[in-house]
Amino acid sequence: MKTTISIEKTKSERTRHPEDQLGFGKYFADHMFIAEYSEGSWKEARIVPYGPLSLDPGASVFHYGQALFEGMKAFRGQNDRIHLFRPDFHVRRLAHGAEKLCMPSVPAELFTEAVEALVKVDSSWIPKSEGSALYLRPTLIGTESFLGVRPSQKYLFFIITSPVGPYYSEGFNPVKIWIERSRVRAAVGGLGDIKAGANYAASLAASTAAKKKDFAQVLWLDSMERKYIEEVGTMNVFFKINDEVITPALNGSILAGATRDCVIQLLKSWNIPVTERKISIDEVFDAHKTGQLKEVFGSGTAAVVSSVGELADQDHRITINNNQVGDLTKKLLNEITSIQLGKKSDPFGWVKVLES
Ligand SMILES: Cc1ncc(COP(=O)(O)O)c(C=O)c1O
Repeated sequence: MKTTISIEKTKSERTRHPEDQLGFGKYFADHMFIAEYSEGSWKEARIVPYGPLSLDPGASVFHYGQALFEGMKAFRGQNDRIHLFRPDFHVRRLAHGAEKLCMPSVPAELFTEAVEALVKVDSSWIPKSEGSALYLRPTLIGTESFLGVRPSQKYLFFIITSPVGPYYSEGFNPVKIWIERSRVRAAVGGLGDIKAGANYAASLAASTAAKKKDFAQVLWLDSMERKYIEEVGTMNVFFKINDEVITPALNGSILAGATRDCVIQLLKSWNIPVTERKISIDEVFDAHKTGQLKEVFGSGTAAVVSSVGELADQDHRITINNNQVGDLTKKLLNEITSIQLGKKSDPFGWVKVLES
């Protein structure tokens, strides 16, 4: 299917900022994509100047939280071509989330054509410097105006884009992570494995408290026993214990990260043992005590592969690898970013190069 997408170009360009001062998610590009869903179909697919949406205060997203999003990146690759990273993965994950939240899924063709048309219109916003990208935020919300708990019958799918640098203020230096012992992010059977806005609302009190203590994010533990590691605020997490890399298995409450999947595929291709299983926080402390904990890192679209230099809670504080980025962490970061930019071949088919 070829979607007809109308394009209205902006008459007043938004302010651009130097690439070394982008930070993460502070600025938005000139245009956005919008499509509306009602009576069983998606309509009025269009690219318009970036700006406010007009929604009825009764819109269900404000009351019953039907809000779901994705986060993906476009890069300026070799020969100045536009590289999209794993768009198919994001289409599938959005569809999985939509099903869980009783929302209509965004057809793969609509998603793909919208993303491609938008990044082409705003291609001059794709930053070129190392560590930067155009971050895309496809978002699906319920817009029908009513009170009473039921799924909305009207939806908006929009995509905004933001030129970004490194996610953490630390850049790619190791970050400090606080182990959250009392609050939980998600429970098995709930929404933890989808990018529902509600999960992030549920995380804010813990992450705000951690930031006050000068920690970048929190490490979540399981909701039942408060013992097994789930993930970090916006990253999946990996532990290198001796020569084996361990990451929590996808149990239904952890987000199945695109970058997590990249890390696992790369490790396998390098014949480095990688295991997806339950791992308790005590096992990590024990491995540290005996000198077997070699590296800890997080993976995410925003943070790519990010070294964890310190893990702490009220009773513990451990420094990992002398607070230095480990060799494996560095290698994974370098491999993934090289594939994203087309500096290395793409044996897994992760990159979609756009024809201009
Ligand atoms: C809660 C959570 N876990 C993990 C991730 C990493 O997922 P991905 O690699 O797909 O960005 C993210 C970011 O999307 C996230 O928000």
